[in-house]
Amino acid sequence: MSSSRRQIVVTSALPYANGPIHIGHMLEYVQTDIWVRFQKLRGHECIYVCADDAHGTPIMLRAQAEGVTPQELIDRMHAEHLRDYTDFGVEFDNYYSTHSDENRYFAEYIYTQLRDAGHIRTRVISQAYDPKAEMFLPDRFIKGECPNCGTADQYGDNCENCGATYAPTDLKNAVSVVSGEAPIEKDSEQYFFKLEDFSDMLKDWFAAGHVQTEIANKMHEWLDEGLQDWDISRNAPYWGFEIPDAPGKYFYVWLDAPIGYMASFKNWCDRNGVDFDHYWQVDSPAELHHFIGKDIARFHTMFWPAMLHGAGFRRPTAVYCHGFLTVDGQKMSKSRGTFIMARTYLDHLNPEYLRYYFAAKLGPGIDDIDLNLEDFTTRVNADLVGKLVNIASRCAGFINKRFEGKLSATLADDSLDAQCLHAAETIAGYYEQREFGKAMRDIMALADRINQYIDEQQPWVAIKDNNRMSEVQDVCTVGLNGFRQLIILLKPVLPRLAAQAEAFLQSGDMTWDDLGNNLLDHAIERFKPLMTRIEPVFIERMIEASKEDAEVEKKIQQGGGDIEPLAPEITYDDFARLDFRIARIVAASRVEKSDRLLQLTLDLGNETRNVFAGLANAYAPEELEGKLTVMVANLAPRKMRFGTSEGMVLAAGSGETELFVLHPDTGAKPGMRVT
Ligand code: MSP
Ligand code: ZN
Repeated sequence: MSSSRRQIVVTSALPYANGPIHIGHMLEYVQTDIWVRFQKLRGHECIYVCADDAHGTPIMLRAQAEGVTPQELIDRMHAEHLRDYTDFGVEFDNYYSTHSDENRYFAEYIYTQLRDAGHIRTRVISQAYDPKAEMFLPDRFIKGECPNCGTADQYGDNCENCGATYAPTDLKNAVSVVSGEAPIEKDSEQYFFKLEDFSDMLKDWFAAGHVQTEIANKMHEWLDEGLQDWDISRNAPYWGFEIPDAPGKYFYVWLDAPIGYMASFKNWCDRNGVDFDHYWQVDSPAELHHFIGKDIARFHTMFWPAMLHGAGFRRPTAVYCHGFLTVDGQKMSKSRGTFIMARTYLDHLNPEYLRYYFAAKLGPGIDDIDLNLEDFTTRVNADLVGKLVNIASRCAGFINKRFEGKLSATLADDSLDAQCLHAAETIAGYYEQREFGKAMRDIMALADRINQYIDEQQPWVAIKDNNRMSEVQDVCTVGLNGFRQLIILLKPVLPRLAAQAEAFLQSGDMTWDDLGNNLLDHAIERFKPLMTRIEPVFIERMIEASKEDAEVEKKIQQGGGDIEPLAPEITYDDFARLDFRIARIVAASRVEKSDRLLQLTLDLGNETRNVFAGLANAYAPEELEGKLTVMVANLAPRKMRFGTSEGMVLAAGSGETELFVLHPDTGAKPGMRVT
């Protein structure tokens, strides 16, 4: 059935080691993992490698903020990331790090080859420099007012308000995010990769169909504009590899990141006694496939093939871009609780629900993929629980109870079997082309047909008639063999469910070639429920937990000791619209079903207010009772799950635990206005 055995190396983009994996990342790893598992299931050699992208300024600064060394940070992240993938069923052959000996070796080697071939040149350029932190600043570490619309607090490359793009030097009243100091311009010598040397090579390479059409079109626009030199160096202090012939200069993180694919593969080769060169030499018969998000296309479709080619290595067989994950039609949002960490998802839901949903929505293009939480619930419950698992549970009971777990010796009706074998070829083509949505649609159509067959045969009626016993066994044998085929077809998407089903069917580890090998005159295990329904409350809890994650993450990024930057300036009139009053906290109590909130009863002299305040992690209720504080008294009431909140009390600090309620000096009385 499978054609000759291919040798395939597959990668997913290397996630940065400065933060946790979220479900947006997971879209990519699940897409790749499904493709890899499909290739393995078809009997091909397929090696899936990845690594943490462990270098760069953000990682250096995060380590500083956490008070740990970069090495400690990347070690911890590596372990966390790997655990998240494993629990999502993403199975790498090797998960390595770009901060490794192999990667240093290949980064130096490729750089030296490019340099010796004349593809590197140096130039003095002027860049933003933080005189207090004594470091050059990447664009993302400079904030200021947008030169176009004046919005404050914008990053050094584009404005979130008006969408303008600009150089960090164009920002008005710019400050360094690291120290708060105004950056200055400073000259230094940098190393550049002459990408233009590879214009013709890239044109041919795009023409040969190694990237999706949408991406090739975009790349052609860049080619037509003329390729710019690429700055591959950064000044110390920098967390990365020092450039061999340039003390104090480091490889820019994006230089050694894709080389991390090679390094991870090399590490795997060494541990498995495999010849690295066979896979990476020019004209290698092996295939090399990269899965990435569309935001990092240029690095993979221009810089990376040029680097490989210039250094005497093979180029990728294909670079596949996917779109971005949105949740309920919008960009993932921390405040809405839709910025969902992989771990938070796992705490509340079965990972295979999401693997299936992603598969159902994924195609070969670069369109964004929406996780609509309601649709997710309905679809998973209908397809996986209602259709797929239902087949097994409808048939298994009879076989277990009435036939001592034994299936019939022949397949009484082989038309379903034939339909499935026929559809399997088309489905295989869909998997290969990354048309996972179409594959899922066809598989569910087969599930419908099997259910329909059982409906028509009505084994629950026949079972009451002693003369029709063997008929029941036959129908269930057909049903369970159909289920078995569906499991093979879904194995790339639902590896865990498949393993449970294999244990139940006593089928052993099945491959694609087993599709036609029906289980006959064969004993199965007792049936245990394979998957349960998603309850909407699981989703609600996950959203709540994600909101709390966002608070914690914000605190880490602020690095504890740092002072939060000032909010945009307001006028006196703006201030005068706020009505602050002295209030006495006459009662305080915990709110059931909320870890964060305290319910406060506030006496304002001539009235009392009910306020829900996020103080539960900072105060015990009795610590607050009887105290005077300051509240915003003219805030519009807000309906919450627990009741209406009629104002806010003032507290200093940020986050959840380090909060300090404000108290007036002696003499202040409830109801007094605070100005
Ligand atoms: N470190 C670089 C990649 C280096 S590859 C040599 C990087 N890391 S990342 O952590 O920001 O992203 C890793 C991958 O996840 C990228 O392919 C990126 O496109 C993808 N995604 C990150 N957020 C995503 C969504 N919200 N949706 C889909 N994919 C997303 O870029
Ligand atoms: Zn703007």
